[in-house]
Formats: sequence, C-alpha cells, structure tokens
Amino acid sequence: MAFSFLTMSKLEVRGIEIAYDDVGAGPAILFLHGFPFNRSMWREQIDLLSPEFRVVAPDLRGHGESTVTPQATVDEMAQDVVALLDALHIEEAVICGLSMGGYVTLALYRLFPARARALVLADTRAVADTAEGKLTREQQAQKVMQEGMATSADSMLAKLVAPATVTKRPEVVSRVRAMILKTDPAGAAAAQRGMAERPDRTDLLSLIKVPTLIICGELDQLTPVAESERMHRLIDGSQLAVIGDAGHMSNLEQPEHFNRVLTAFLRQLNP
Ligand code: MLT
Repeated sequence: MAFSFLTMSKLEVRGIEIAYDDVGAGPAILFLHGFPFNRSMWREQIDLLSPEFRVVAPDLRGHGESTVTPQATVDEMAQDVVALLDALHIEEAVICGLSMGGYVTLALYRLFPARARALVLADTRAVADTAEGKLTREQQAQKVMQEGMATSADSMLAKLVAPATVTKRPEVVSRVRAMILKTDPAGAAAAQRGMAERPDRTDLLSLIKVPTLIICGELDQLTPVAESERMHRLIDGSQLAVIGDAGHMSNLEQPEHFNRVLTAFLRQLNP
C-alpha cells in the first residue's frame, strides 16, 4: 500500500530539487516530516486521505531524495515548500507538520499566513532551543559528519518511541531506524544547525487565526505534552489531542488514533 515511492516526483524550486508525493484530488493537505526522516513517514496518512484530498508530502531539503544543502534553516524549508505549492498551483492547504515539520509549519504561517487553511502541529513546540540544546545539536552535527548516522541511530531511537511501540510494533522501530539511516549526514548536520537558529515563536501563537489541531504522544520525551498544552492555551480556539501509548512519532506509533483525530478535524473544515 505504499503510494509514496510510486508517485514520487521532483521539481526544481529555489535552486534545489525537492522530491515529493502528490496524490489524490480535493482540498489540499501538506505534510511536513520530522528530523531526520523523510516523507515516507506519512504513508498511513497519505493512504487514508488521498481518496478525498489532494495530499502533498515533500522531502524537506537535506532529507530523503531532496537536495542536500550546507544550510537548512526552518525558514528556508518553509520557503521551499511554499515554492512547491506555487509550482503545483495550490493556493491554500492544511499544513500538518510533526516536530521539525511543526517548526517549519510555524515558520510558514509567519511568512505566508494566507497559504494556510488550517494547521496541525504534531509533537512539536513553539519555544527555541536552550543554550544547552544548541550545544548538543552542534555536537550531534559534528558526530554524524564524522561517524555517519548509524552510531547515532540507537540513541535517537531510544527517545523517539514509546515502550509499547518497541514491544508491540517492532516494525515501526525498524521503519524509523531505516529513515534515520537513509538521511545524508550532511543534510542532518545542516538541519541540526538550522533548528538551533530557529527563534522562539511563542508570540506568533496568539496571532494564529486559522483552525488549529495540536496532537502529541502522551509519552513524547522530545517535545513533551506540556509543550502542546502551552501552545493549546495560546492558540485561540485550538484543539488538543493526546495520543495514548505513543512517544514522539505519534502518527507512526498509533496511526489509527492519529488518523481518527486528524480525520475528525478535517471533517469540521470540510463538512
Ligand atoms: C524531530 O523529530 O523533528 C526532532 O526531534 C526535532 C528536534 O530535534 O528538535
């Protein structure tokens, strides 16, 4: 059932190649993956929604089959995906981002608010990195450049998924590991440094004027539920869904629950 690689296309935008899936017809939904993954993490959502929606899922720069660049800020990623929407003649989309994809979603909303019909902020946060967090990112960037992705994969995985996923859905752990290993170390290093530069977006939250759904795995260690609750308090009219038995990769760990919540939100937008 993997549409993903059957439908893959590439377009040159802003001087780089962006690989993407563009499946189905109807109101558009743009899915933005996390770090250090690629668009294949949205397979279950693409399969579910493409009969009714036009689903677009790019590989962000430095990831998957898109061009690796020495720099990759979340603002640049937002500009890339809006250029992709332009090229695909999509004026407005529901923007759904997980973690780093959520940072890109907030950057996109700040730069191009008219392009967002609604927002889905999954396992993400509005705050910037702490000084310690920035330092850790720089160390991790240097480590993957020296040693490749494999030596970092286990320590990353330990924080990415809930215990129930390890015992009951080992295939999800294998899939997440495979995505990490597929990422070019130079792309991962550029994204780490880009994320370290991202500003605090707290002030943006009260300016969000489109329907917003916030989703978080109840056991998310990287962007804990408290971060989602904080965004929920600050985004007027937002909805919050906490996914049981899921960590940071809530859409992969509990796809049925994630999809139920997402579908209910989309139905409210398109009754
Ligand atoms: C992600 O899943 O995108 C990362 O955990 C984001 C981050 O490193 O802040």
